[in-house]
Formats: sequence, structure tokens, C-alpha cells
Amino acid sequence: MNEEDNNWHFETESVHSGLSYNEETGAVIPPIFATSTFESDNQHGFDYTRSGNPNFRNLEEVLKKNENAKYATVFASGVSAITSILSTLNSNSLVLAEENIYGCTYRLMDKVFSKFGVSVKYSDLTKQENIDAIADIKPDILWIESPTNPMLKVLDIKSIAEASKAVGANLVVDNTFASSFIQCPLDLGADLSLLSLTKYANGHSDALGGVVCSNNEEWADKMVFAQKALGLQPSPFDCWLIQRGLKTQRIRVERHSENAEKIASYLTDRFPDRKVIYPFLESHPQYNLALKQMRLGSGIITVDLGLDLETTKSFLNELKLFAKAESLGGIESLVCHPASMTHASVPKSVRESVGISDSLFRLSVGIENSDDLIKDICSALKKLGI
Ligand SMILES: Cc1ncc(COP(=O)(O)O)c(C=O)c1O
Repeated sequence: MNEEDNNWHFETESVHSGLSYNEETGAVIPPIFATSTFESDNQHGFDYTRSGNPNFRNLEEVLKKNENAKYATVFASGVSAITSILSTLNSNSLVLAEENIYGCTYRLMDKVFSKFGVSVKYSDLTKQENIDAIADIKPDILWIESPTNPMLKVLDIKSIAEASKAVGANLVVDNTFASSFIQCPLDLGADLSLLSLTKYANGHSDALGGVVCSNNEEWADKMVFAQKALGLQPSPFDCWLIQRGLKTQRIRVERHSENAEKIASYLTDRFPDRKVIYPFLESHPQYNLALKQMRLGSGIITVDLGLDLETTKSFLNELKLFAKAESLGGIESLVCHPASMTHASVPKSVRESVGISDSLFRLSVGIENSDDLIKDICSALKKLGI
């Protein structure tokens, strides 16, 4: 232990960072700065909340620590953060994206940015030959998630970052499914790490937010520009809520992961011939990489019991503790049917080519008692005679 250094652990930084602006009252927790504008020439350099606010800055301070980044810019949602990055492209830009990405990221590229001449190629980046092919494709941006939504593929961020650097491309990692405690993409060589703060960062399903983190000043300037020029800023209140959520992120994510690992093992034992996908299960195709790259398995399990569509939907409806809802990463358990919910905007043929069948469902495991969650799953299966 070195008493002299000021490097605190993840959970200590999460509690103590970003606690400024309290000189006048001594309040331990900063207030919500519900102001649209600021008096000119104030000492903190604020002018108008579309381009900055004390609550944005406090939240950004914590996120910089959590993601080991020099710069962080917050946005109204994860999709706003994605939009801000894509908005930096030109009419001849080429994006190379992992073939399994979040449905709304796919939709933004396919339905919005394609209209402005941005081209997108998709590839299965778990395969070494496809990582090698980056050298020939020479994209401007490489876009990945790890684990991916919803197939939970684990991609080798370090080797994709090396391949990307070799052709002068920028690697963007959507870190939403892992979350900052589990993995720091910038440490593995990514240029940008983005998060939907709506998920594990906030953790309570009561606010939306997004962030883009980097170690590059030029990228940071572009993100602040996108925030104000495109009007993608969050609200001070949402920033305040998310900052509060971040204080407990580590203990929540540990519990999510512990519960998910137990449920995934239970489902594997009960259905050894079916698909139960969880990064920290030995049966996961990238299990060894997951152990190396991730501190924990996170809280999502993707399951395909091979049931027909109607039976799958009835099973989801029978669950009592898992609410059928979009989103993930909150303290309460949720279940989602990607084909009709999060990935409904992806054409069926594309969905099926990446494994998103009609019988696939995704569990976002909460922090409840794992025995209760397993009991709920058992009783829903029993009601359907399974
Ligand atoms: C991997 C991933 N990235 C980004 C988003 C978008 O985040 P938001 O809903 O905050 O816009 C989501 C939402 O589910 C997601 O799963």
C-alpha cells in the first residue's frame, strides 16, 4: 500500500468523484442545477445547458474515473451517444460493424446515416479471418459491442484494436452490456468507449443517458460539438440520478453477475441440449477470452429452448418476477423477446442469420434473491408442462 498516491479503487472513486459545487452550503450531495442558462464570464465557464451544466460535469468526472478515460461527454441516451459518433462521418465514410449489434444502432446506420452516404459492412468479428480482413476493408470506423446484444458474443477487443490501428481506423466499443466495472475498452486499445447509462450505470430504470469516453482531445471536442450542435444533451435531473446510481454500481454489478451465473448454471443443467448463453459458462464459445477480458460475467443470459413462438411468449408471460420489458441492467429482473422487441427493427432474415430466432429470449437478471428467481422460472415452466 502506498499512502502517498491518490489512486482510489473503482467503488471509492464512484462514491467520491464529482462532488464539487457545494462550497456555499456544505451540502454533501450536489444539488440539481435546474437552469437553462448561466451569467456570462462565470468562473466555471458555463454558458448554456445545451453545451454544459454542473450536473453534466459532475457525472462526467465519475465516468472518466470508471472508464479510465481523459474525456467523457454525456448525452440524453445511449442512442444519442451513438448518433454523436456517427455524426462525425462523411458521405464517403465506411463503417465496419460486428454483425450482431443492438437493433437501434443497426437502424440508425441502415435507415438514417445511409441517406447521407455512410456505408456499413457487417462481419462476424469472433472469427480471426474476419479480423485479418480489416486490413483489406480499411474502414474509417470499426463498431463493436462485447458482449453483443443479444447473442452475448465476446469479441477480442485488444486484437480488433490492433487491426484497427494498423489501417488508421477508429475502434468504437459499446460497453453497455459489460459495464465499466467489468471492462475498460480504452485500456484494451479502443479509441472510444460508449455506454447507455440507462442500463447498469444508473441501474434503477428511472432515467436515460449516454456517454462517450476517450483519451483523445480531438474526439472530445467533436463530442461536445455534437452535444450542442445536434441538441443531444441530457437533463440535469437525469445526470443527478445517474450519478447517484453510479455510487453503487460495483456492488450491484457483482450481485447481478452472481445471480446470473447461478441461473445460467441451473438452466444448463436442466436443458443440457438447448442453448443457454452466458459468458462465464464453460460452454460459451469464447469462455477463455471472457475470463481474460471481463472481471465478471455481467447480468444477461440469452436462452433458446427451441420452443415454438407461442409457447415462448406464454412462458415469458407466466414469469412473475421477470417483467416483460425492453431494457436491462436495472435492479429488477426483466425478460425480453428480441425478435419482437429490441431487434424488431432488424429484418427477419438478418436477425435469423445472426442467431436471433423467434424462440430466443434474453433475461436481465436483477439483484433479487437468486433462489426466488429460479423458483419463478421453474413455476412458469411447470405451468406450461415443461
Ligand atoms: C448495447 C446497447 N447500446 C445502446 C443502447 C441504447 O441505449 P438507450 O436506450 O439509452 O438509448 C442499448 C439499449 O438497449 C443497448 O442495448
